[in-house]
Parts: sequence; structure tokens; C-alpha cells
Amino acid sequence: MKMRALITGISGQDGAYLAKLLLEKGYHVTGAVRRSSHPETTRLQKLGIADDIEYVYFDLIETNNIIRIIRDSTFDEIYNLAAQSFVGSSWEQPVYAADVNGLGVVRLLDCIRTFTPQSRFYQASTSEMFGLVRSTPQNEDTPFHPRSPYGVAKTYGHYITVNYRESFGIHASSGILFNHESPLRGSEFVTRKITLGLARFARGEQVPLALGNLDAKRDWGFAGDYVEGMWRMLQQETADDYVLATGVTTPIRDFVRFAAEAIGIELEWTGTGEAEQALERKTGKVVVQINPRFYRPAEVSLLLGDAAKARAKLGWEPKVGVRELAAMMAQADFDNWPA
Ligand code: NAP
Ligand code: GDD
Repeated sequence: MKMRALITGISGQDGAYLAKLLLEKGYHVTGAVRRSSHPETTRLQKLGIADDIEYVYFDLIETNNIIRIIRDSTFDEIYNLAAQSFVGSSWEQPVYAADVNGLGVVRLLDCIRTFTPQSRFYQASTSEMFGLVRSTPQNEDTPFHPRSPYGVAKTYGHYITVNYRESFGIHASSGILFNHESPLRGSEFVTRKITLGLARFARGEQVPLALGNLDAKRDWGFAGDYVEGMWRMLQQETADDYVLATGVTTPIRDFVRFAAEAIGIELEWTGTGEAEQALERKTGKVVVQINPRFYRPAEVSLLLGDAAKARAKLGWEPKVGVRELAAMMAQADFDNWPA
């Protein structure tokens, strides 16, 4: 009998990589997609797996829809990756973020409790919960202080996962994942915005790339490595919470430099604050400039994860470092331009 997995958020970056991994392991994969006039399967097509998945229409804010899907199938594993995942827009739509990223988790967990308590559950939690960090590096014991409506909602999602594990014995694990990226990353997240902007510049459309806070630091890994960690969490005898991170933190400015170098753009930084710019050394043309529109009402300035527990208990190791990641993404966008 094939193992059966349900992936919510399958049309997203992580959903696509996780589906590929599970298919390679011989799973039957059901992908939960939002109803629209044109279902989103672009990433699954890029990985060549769009036709290998059974699709169900699903929305985390529609309780009866979730009930029907969970009641009518038996899944060995349920991965809840669906979310309004862009931190920046969570200040514009805070109630929606709370509904999907917070209440959506308990809707799903309560259906599991009622209809399929033996299913194993993965919740996509986030380093954004550490927010205004209390100590560095951050691990499973670091207190949370979320800084965005997204982070606040995800913190509820984390604790309700822990609570359903403790209250009802559900095999529910929460993966506290630090930023992970790939050529399939959404174009509004800073890494992909950078690699797309640099590819556009290198291909001759020399429009400056406008960014916000270049001083923020992130612990960036490769999404393909992180989905392996999700799967490993659900193979453990008992459910638990795990940080996945690389243990290296990098300012946005350096990610720009790594990506630019990979496609042959040498940068020279000038100015400070809102007047800061990156010029192409060879031509003096502006490659990057600051637009305060991309500053956030409250910033997460530094994230640096300690994944010692995942290393020890799951045998999980990230394989791709930040320079290699930036080069992989920049090269992919350069090769595929126009995107
Ligand atoms: P992503 O590319 O933005 O994908 C999000 C997915 O959620 C999409 O498939 C989207 O569907 C779906 N979705 C949004 N609202 C929904 C709703 N109301 N009902 C059902 N599905 C909905 O995000 P990702 O980078 O793959 O991240 C996966 C998960 O990990 C998210 O929960 C995110 O918050 C979390 N996370 C990500 C990172 C990271 O660095 N990538 C780090 C920590 C945690 P549409 O295609 O229809 O929009
Ligand atoms: N998006 C964006 N656009 N961010 C910018 C920009 C810009 O033009 N300029 C600077 N930044 C800074 C942001 O202020 C933030 O400090 C950092 O770049 C990273 O922003 P994002 O790439 O949007 O990611 P994030 O860290 O806010 O959130 C991602 O990682 C979380 C895990 O820590 C998302 O994937 C979340 O879903 C995830 O939970």
C-alpha cells in the first residue's frame, strides 16, 4: 500500500519541493489548491510533477470544505504549508492573516482530531515568531516576540499544534523554519526580487532595483533541503518541535552582492540611509536604490538559527550555503529571462 499524504499550499514554493520528494519516495500525493478559474500549478509543472498529483479544492478559511476533505480520505501524513506567507502584506490584511495562518490551523487540527486522529500532522511554523529576538542564536527554547500580524498568527498556529499534541495525543509536529529560498521563490520575497532585478539589469533593461532595509539579516537556506527536514519530523516515533536553519546569517546587502557577482555584475556601494545606492562599477549605472515604501512598520532585524536538535534527532543537515543559493537563483533568473 502506498503511503498517502495531503499537502496544503502545494502550489507554493515548499509545496512543490515537498510533493516532488514524497513522489520520489513512492507516496500518493493529494494536493490541496485554492479554487480559482485557473488553478495554480506553475511550480509543479516546472518540477515536472503536475500530472502526478491528485488535486482537491481547499481553503483554510472554509471549515466545511476542510471537513469534507479530511472525512472522505485517509491520509497517513498531512502537511499544512498553506498560509498568507508574505510578512509585508500582513499589515495590510491582518484579519485575513489571523484567519488563515492562525484559525486555519485549528480548523484543520480539529477535523483531524474528529475524523482521523491517527494521521501525522506537520505545521509550517516560522522563525518570524522570534521577531524581536531575545537571544542569539535562536533554538526551540528561545522565547517568541513576533513583530508582524503574520508572526502573531503563526505563533497561535504553533501553540495550537503543541496543544493538540498534548491534549489529544495527535502526532503533530511544528517545524520552526528559518528563511528558505529557491528559484521557485515568490517574486515579492527579497531574495527572488533581487535575483529577478539583477537578471533584468544584466539583460539590458537597466531599471534600478528598489529595496527597503538592507541591514536586516536572515539565515537563508535552500528550500529543497528544508522539505527533507519536514518529512523527517513525521517519521519520528513521537512528534516534537524542531528548528531548521543553516546557522549562518547574512545582511540583505551581501545577498545582493553574492547574486550580482554570480552573473558578472560588480557593484560599488555609495551613500547611506535612504541615499544608499549600488552602482555597476564598470558603467556607473544605478543597480540598486532605496525606496522607503519597502520599510516595514516593525522589523525583524536579525535571525540566526541553531538547528542542533534537528541535526541530532533527525540527522538533518542543510547542504546549500548562502553564496551557492544566491548564485543558483541569480543564474536561473538570468538564464530564463524574461521570466
Ligand atoms: P508560498 O510560496 O507563499 O505558498 C503559500 C501557499 O499557501 C500557496 O500554495 C497558496 O496558494 C496557499 N494559500 C494561501 N492562502 C490560502 C488559503 N486561504 N487556503 C489554502 N491555501 C492557501 O509559501 P512557501 O514559501 O512555500 O511557505 C510554505 C509555508 O511555510 C507557509 O505556511 C509559510 O508561512 C511557511 N514558512 C515559510 C518559510 C520560507 O522561508 N519559505 C519559512 C518559515 C515558514 P495560492 O497559490 O492559491 O496562493
Ligand atoms: N520583501 C522585501 N522586499 N523585503 C525587503 C525588501 C524588499 O524590497 N527590502 C528589504 N527587505 C527586507 C525585509 O524588511 C526583511 O527584513 C527581509 O528583507 C526579508 O524579507 P522577505 O524576503 O519578505 O522575508 P521575511 O523574512 O519577511 O519572511 C519570510 O521568511 C519567514 C521566516 O523567517 C517568509 O517566507 C515568511 O513566510 C517566513 O515565515
